[in-house]
Amino acid sequence: MGIVTAKNTDMNQNKHHIADVAIIGSGAAGLSLALSLANHCNVTVISKGELTEGSTLYAQGGIAAVFDKKNDSIESHVQDTLDAGGGLCDRDAVHYTASNAPNCLQWLIEQGVPFDMEFDSKGKERFHLTREGGHSHRRILHAADATGRAVQTTLISQVQAHANITLLEQYNAIDLIGDKKLAQTGKHIHGIYMWNRCAKRVETISAKFFALATGGASKVYLYTSNPDVSSGDGIAMAWRAGCRVANMEFNQFHPTSLYHPELQNFLITEAMRGEGAYLKRPDGTRFMKDFDEREELAPRDIVARAIDFEMKRLGANCVYLDISHKDKDFIIEHFPTIYAKCLSVGLDITKEPIPVVPAAHYTCGGVMTDFNGKTDLDNLYAIGEVAYTGLHGANRMASNSLLECIVFAHAAAKDILAKIQHSPALKELPVWDESRVTNSDEEVVITHNWHELRLFMWDYVGIVRSTKRLERALHRVELLQQEIRDYYANFRVSNNLLELRNLVQVAELIIRSAMERKESRGLHYTIDYPQLNDNPTPTILTPHTHDEQPK
Ligand code: FAD
Ligand code: SIN
Repeated sequence: MGIVTAKNTDMNQNKHHIADVAIIGSGAAGLSLALSLANHCNVTVISKGELTEGSTLYAQGGIAAVFDKKNDSIESHVQDTLDAGGGLCDRDAVHYTASNAPNCLQWLIEQGVPFDMEFDSKGKERFHLTREGGHSHRRILHAADATGRAVQTTLISQVQAHANITLLEQYNAIDLIGDKKLAQTGKHIHGIYMWNRCAKRVETISAKFFALATGGASKVYLYTSNPDVSSGDGIAMAWRAGCRVANMEFNQFHPTSLYHPELQNFLITEAMRGEGAYLKRPDGTRFMKDFDEREELAPRDIVARAIDFEMKRLGANCVYLDISHKDKDFIIEHFPTIYAKCLSVGLDITKEPIPVVPAAHYTCGGVMTDFNGKTDLDNLYAIGEVAYTGLHGANRMASNSLLECIVFAHAAAKDILAKIQHSPALKELPVWDESRVTNSDEEVVITHNWHELRLFMWDYVGIVRSTKRLERALHRVELLQQEIRDYYANFRVSNNLLELRNLVQVAELIIRSAMERKESRGLHYTIDYPQLNDNPTPTILTPHTHDEQPK
């Protein structure tokens, strides 16, 4: 059906859309789900910004799956994931994902994703497999150092060509319309309120099934590798609609984000360490062997904490990642994007070390789902980084995330298609009531609160935590929540306000989860409880109020 970019020309103020399945999010998860459904039903994909924008586009390292059957095995992929997950992974979820990985990668290959190839010693062509932290074998398929771009652009061209898929670009989903809003009991979602960013009005969509594929929430931290769209909207929407969330304390910090005044939020892939790069102090000495026998290839939580420790100990602004001892052609062939990007700010990575710092990278927790991606609500699914499936535990292993998007998108599509014939008739949706709101007079409240939130989350709820810091952060979040609630009730919505409202909600969930975990495990490290507890369980939060009325 093609793209419907939000336009300012339609004068119908209550525009209503209808689909069999409405998917919020156009990253790897949303697009894979859409493509897996579209031969059987009508699908609408809603995207907050441009269709391409989301974490998927920026993924560098690759996607994990066992392709080297001679040296590697599904059991080994399972074991590495469990080890990285710090004793908190759901073993069945890990096994389910690792064993479905080769088929899902095959599906991506059939869609046209151009993974890198090489020749073996007998001249036979095979996929080039790279390596990242926590993996005991080379098992990562990649498209040089721009795997996400290859996945995103390939899937976008497929959905654009599909007659049963409608793409709503520049539409920001505000809230799910559940039973309560229709004054009924039950666990059903009937529609979505969406902010048409160009026409600056709220529209609705009805559907039989809904999927959140909205990505993560790393924008809640001041320094992040994520794009602006990663504001935790899906987690906040699901929570307001009555879904449980789990393991929100486990936010992953990627160890190596470029530290440069002219280039922010730029990741230096872990695959660079996989291909032999060293981490060094400012004086040029290596330090990872002081922290873990796997050195530069230890799981991310360990490497990020080691860097944080060294930076604080030395009072340094950054540490360095050095691959300049490798052959120049090898570096340029394997890391063309990073080479070109760094060169654009005068840094030649073939000759000098790269200044790096940790940055918020991935939300391991999220909306609780079963192995079909189904949430606590009957017809609501959550796929990709927005979800908690049990795969990642206390720390996600590199390149298991894009994999999770595809595996659970396929599972959800199967489940939806098995149920779609028997789904109840669509209900009329309540219209968005703007009769009591005015235009905002003080936008500075929003920009100030954005900055304040991200700063105290970085300082108090970052790589190393303490009970006192968490209490401070919770107090500030509660103040911000009150202010934003008043603001939201009295003024017309805007994109920044909607994102801030969601970020503050997610921040509260992260802090409350962190306060519940009285130990240090995986990505959650607190100086007040440095020990590991016996018999750990996921941190599950249950909402008490369902369906906050939007207006
Ligand atoms: P995203 O790709 O983030 O897409 C989210 C979508 O939801 C976007 O279309 C956005 O517009 C939309 N959206 C959000 N909120 C709303 C709303 N309210 N209304 C409408 N639309 C909304 N993982 C790996 O496995 N391998 C890697 O090599 C790798 N490298 C990475 C490198 C970087 C720099 C980053 C940031 C992440 C990397 N990751 C990697 C993680 C991985 O990229 C993400 O976890 C994955 O892409 C998430 O996909 P997704 O479809 O869930 O969400
Ligand atoms: C990277 O390339 O280092 C990121 C990989 C990931 O987040 O899985």
